Amino acid sequence: MTRDVKNHLLFEVATEVANRVGGIYSVLKSKAPVTVAEYKERYALIGPLNRKSAAVEVEELPVTNPELKATLDAMYSRGIRYIYGRWLIEGAPRVILFDLGSASHFLNEWKSDLWNVAGIPTPPTDTETNDAVLLGYLAAWFIGELCCHETKKAIILHAHEWLAGVAIPLCRQRKIDCATIFTTHATLLGRYLCAGSVDFYNNLDKFDVDYEAGKRGIYHRYCIERAAAHSADVFTTVSHITAYEAENLLKRKPDGVLPNGLNVVKFQAVHEFQNLHAEKKEKINEFVRGHFYGQLDFSLDNTLYFFIAGRYEYRNKGVDLYIEALARLNHKLKDIGSKMTVVAFIIMPASSHSYTVEALRGQAVVKQLESSIHVVQRSMGKRLSEWCQDPSHCSSKGQIELPDLDDLLRPADRVLLKRRMFALKRDSLPPIVTHNMVNDATDPILNQIRSCQLFNKKEDRVKIVFHPEFLSSSSPVLPLDYDEFVRGCHMGVFPSYYEPWGYTPAECTVMGIPSITTNLSGFGCYMEDLIENPVDYGIYIVDRRMKSVDDSINQMVDMMFSFCQKTRRQRINQRNRVERLSDLLDWRRMGLEYVKARTLALKRAYPGMFSKESNPFESNDLKVARPLSVPGSPKDRLSNGAMTPGDLGTLQESNDAGYLSWLNRDDDEDVTLRGAS
Ligand code: UDP
Ligand code: G6P
Ligand code: GLC
Repeated sequence: MTRDVKNHLLFEVATEVANRVGGIYSVLKSKAPVTVAEYKERYALIGPLNRKSAAVEVEELPVTNPELKATLDAMYSRGIRYIYGRWLIEGAPRVILFDLGSASHFLNEWKSDLWNVAGIPTPPTDTETNDAVLLGYLAAWFIGELCCHETKKAIILHAHEWLAGVAIPLCRQRKIDCATIFTTHATLLGRYLCAGSVDFYNNLDKFDVDYEAGKRGIYHRYCIERAAAHSADVFTTVSHITAYEAENLLKRKPDGVLPNGLNVVKFQAVHEFQNLHAEKKEKINEFVRGHFYGQLDFSLDNTLYFFIAGRYEYRNKGVDLYIEALARLNHKLKDIGSKMTVVAFIIMPASSHSYTVEALRGQAVVKQLESSIHVVQRSMGKRLSEWCQDPSHCSSKGQIELPDLDDLLRPADRVLLKRRMFALKRDSLPPIVTHNMVNDATDPILNQIRSCQLFNKKEDRVKIVFHPEFLSSSSPVLPLDYDEFVRGCHMGVFPSYYEPWGYTPAECTVMGIPSITTNLSGFGCYMEDLIENPVDYGIYIVDRRMKSVDDSINQMVDMMFSFCQKTRRQRINQRNRVERLSDLLDWRRMGLEYVKARTLALKRAYPGMFSKESNPFESNDLKVARPLSVPGSPKDRLSNGAMTPGDLGTLQESNDAGYLSWLNRDDDEDVTLRGAS
């Protein structure tokens, strides 16, 4: 069938649409402004309905597009319930969130169909896989139905990760008239193998994949992932290191790399982000005053805030290295009698009941003290003012009599202050963890902290705070959103062993906060490829490839230690340099790879539309919507039109389709990133 490829429709399907779990949510959310600017109403995201998050993230709308309405009505008439609306984020993309429960009566039928058409088994007890089947069948149903109503425009279905991947083999098997892309943000086997103690990267080409998947009870999931990778028109991943992994574990070489970008917001005043750092740091100071009450014998002016954050994957996220490096740093700082204190945070959700009484009490006693001080301050101020206005305190000879402290601070105030100071007394050490943990005795993070003896003792120069929950501004203990917290810190530490991309250091970079990453993370490799000397820009890359674990830890300790030696002025300068890299991570640049992947998918699905005589991307009246302008880079390696961010030799087929001419446009005009209202 011939379809209009220029004005194609784009649907991205993922489980993290309007539902935060990890980095895929960050991809979809931060990319929305550029995708909406390019596609307007021709773009929508598909995901499972999570009522709790949809209630705060999505505004329901009536479906006005006739083809879309006919499609959703047809599904509705067969019992499928959904929410259609505007995702309340910048760009305001449309979302279709299917209620998986409303399709559960099809589950058994679909599971046996999956076995019949693709030979993929699905055990009854794996609810995550059951949901993947429901989402995949709903997405394929939706696209198939839409193809019948929308007969003119080409349609691209772009699925992210195996959880949304079932739709891809179904589209191929049913010969649905659409183009498909599958992007994997990690491989299942990679994540599982790395979480164990396997020398992963040196054995990538040697694993017996079926055996390894079976051994870990994930054979069926692996089958879904592999089927999606093989049946997509275009298969991509998020970094070169993961492309290599995917080629070995999924047995298809990715067509390209789609590195993750961020929605970079530039401030009017260049130093605004520095002011924000000072402002948010003060909020962290408030928390620290409460958490360390009674034992706050270190100066907050000489305190640095380090942190690690992300999903709780002890080994993959490198928490093991982080804690060990902190213990060694503590030793080193103590050795030289350093005046610096490091408060090292661990922000990783673990099973917990609630905040501990001690964590709540710490914040409460300090707040009480502060509010009492305000009361005392006001009454002292009043008395001071009265004193100064009293003419008897200024003799005719011009002699001024100033008040004694006793005249200003009355006995009642003294008693109040003493009571507050008594409340600050405590014999126990400031706690490590802010919550009551469900598995306190067996928790790997707590156990390592115990074995390293990082107990927040008075003499320790490195103190630890483990917050086993994602941050939120409504918290009674640490009331900051994650972004605010990052801004207030001095350094993010992410020594991951398995990290296909790694948003956390990238987010630090655009906020002007230095970070430690590794040469096993997609982000670290990307920066290493692009910048002559990343350290100059506050991107510290630990070698976890060629060094032993012990040497990697020592390298990290050296990085942290040298950071602790910096003066405030040096830290400010370094933040300025880090922030300058943010253009490199802007979706306006990174988004080009998505454009290339889509072009290639269309080209493979509709080769007839791309013949020499009628290439839609070359003829003047059939140009694909223009991408957003591309910012310059320090190395100016990308802006010469020869390479784009995910390149290093990929997606070459689509190069012929003319997208490179966009890069050469002398076009600095900014496209307004507003969602179609
Ligand atoms: N994150 C968050 N709140 C927190 C800590 C982390 O929202 O308190 C987010 C962070 O902004 C990042 C994501 O979690 O975007 C983690 O993504 P990453 O790619 O680093 O790892 P993933 O979890 O996808 O493996
Ligand atoms: C920002 C502010 C400065 C402040 C500094 C603190 O740069 O603009 O006014 O002194 O942060 O930096 P520090 O690294 O000590 O947190
Ligand atoms: C995955 C990876 C992470 C990546 C994210 C977004 O969850 O673990 O490294 O940043 O996807 O692509």
